[in-house]
Amino acid sequence: MNSYYTKETMERFLNPKHFGEMKDANAVGRVGNPKCGDQMTVYLKIEDGKIKNASFQTLGCAAAIATSDVICEMITGKTIKEALSITEKEMIEKLEKLPAVKVHCSSLAISGLKKAIEDYEEKK
Ligand code: FES
Repeated sequence: MNSYYTKETMERFLNPKHFGEMKDANAVGRVGNPKCGDQMTVYLKIEDGKIKNASFQTLGCAAAIATSDVICEMITGKTIKEALSITEKEMIEKLEKLPAVKVHCSSLAISGLKKAIEDYEEKK
């Protein structure tokens, strides 16, 4: 079947593993994509310089939701520095690919992560 999104993207869009508010988060980042109005909130629980837990709430397209889920998975267990080094390309590889017009949607997840880490650094 030739579909717009890959099976992996659709699975993460329909059944994201990291979706939801995190009540005990110690870092929260809220971002929006001014082009389309999509919004994302990233919640992190950071302990001893490592991301112990990550979740998100995203109001947006399938690509934005799928990449939000991917980034939460990729950063769990990583140091802040390691998490910040994750690229859009690496996230998209986890989804196998994204349609060219949807590649920019993955930047929302990166921006949300950066904003949450800024929040953590400010609170320290
Ligand atoms: Fe808005 Fe995808 S269309 S982030």
